Amino acid sequence: MTKSSAPGKIILFGEHAVVYGRPALAVPVTEVQANVDVSESARKGVWIGAPDVNLSAELNVLPSDHPIASVIHNFLFLARVTSFPNLEIKITSTIPVASGLGSGAAVTVALTRALASHLKHPMNDEEVNAFAYEIEKLHHGTPSGIDNTVVTYARPVYFIKGQSIETFKVSKPFMIVIADTGISAPTKESVGDVRRLWMHDRSRWETIFDKIGEVSFTARRALEAGKPELLGELMNENHELLQKLTVSSQELDHLVETARRAGALGAKLSGGGRGGNMIAFVEPERAQAVSFSLLEAGAKNTIITQVS
Ligand code: PMV
Repeated sequence: MTKSSAPGKIILFGEHAVVYGRPALAVPVTEVQANVDVSESARKGVWIGAPDVNLSAELNVLPSDHPIASVIHNFLFLARVTSFPNLEIKITSTIPVASGLGSGAAVTVALTRALASHLKHPMNDEEVNAFAYEIEKLHHGTPSGIDNTVVTYARPVYFIKGQSIETFKVSKPFMIVIADTGISAPTKESVGDVRRLWMHDRSRWETIFDKIGEVSFTARRALEAGKPELLGELMNENHELLQKLTVSSQELDHLVETARRAGALGAKLSGGGRGGNMIAFVEPERAQAVSFSLLEAGAKNTIITQVS
């Protein structure tokens, strides 16, 4: 049997502006992960079991654009496998779906690595990342590529679309609380709405993207210099800019304000927005209290993670 797993991810700074070439910062979230086991099957065909999404089926009965089937078909094509192998593929994941934690990218990366290893088609990180980006494009329109990159390399990434991957060092560990609004909001829609705004008044929105890019740049410097205490203010500033971009929502704003009132040093939405997750920067001793307040205020789930 071949096993592989991949972590979730969270964007710290720079979402949306990253689609327009500005830098964004994202980190892996190892408290959640996608796991894939591939083994020989006694049955004919490629059998997929993914209990979290109620899936138990043979590959060929799934539509070819099904998120899991499309990874397998594209992998078999890439590896030039002409006759279908007999496989059992088991996929489990603790990463919440469609909430900005990179669940799709994590399943793609873990599945690709498990297939590559089992079918003896070695792939390095760069190849896995490029393949996962192609899969992201099939399902998400015009993604920047940040999700697949952080999930593949499982390291903090300073990401600029189209440029070579820059991982960076977090000199002093820090803690964030991630809270899920429980509202699933397709990233494709908020990205599309921002594009429409931008098309109507490019110079206005380019100015906002520039400001977001500066926040990401400053945050990277702060993390490298071992000054994570500067992140709080930067998160607040980034959230305000995302509100201007119209990608926040009442629920996200409510959780952001709750976190600040409960003692977080700063908070913002994370990812596509409108729903999904928010993050709060906290001193370790405040983490539990902030998490508790967020749950009381309606968050469906929280994750406390140390970034190091
Ligand atoms: O919702 P998420 O975590 O997949 O993040 C989307 C981030 C955007 O910048 C809004 C889009 C992108 O492709 O980078």
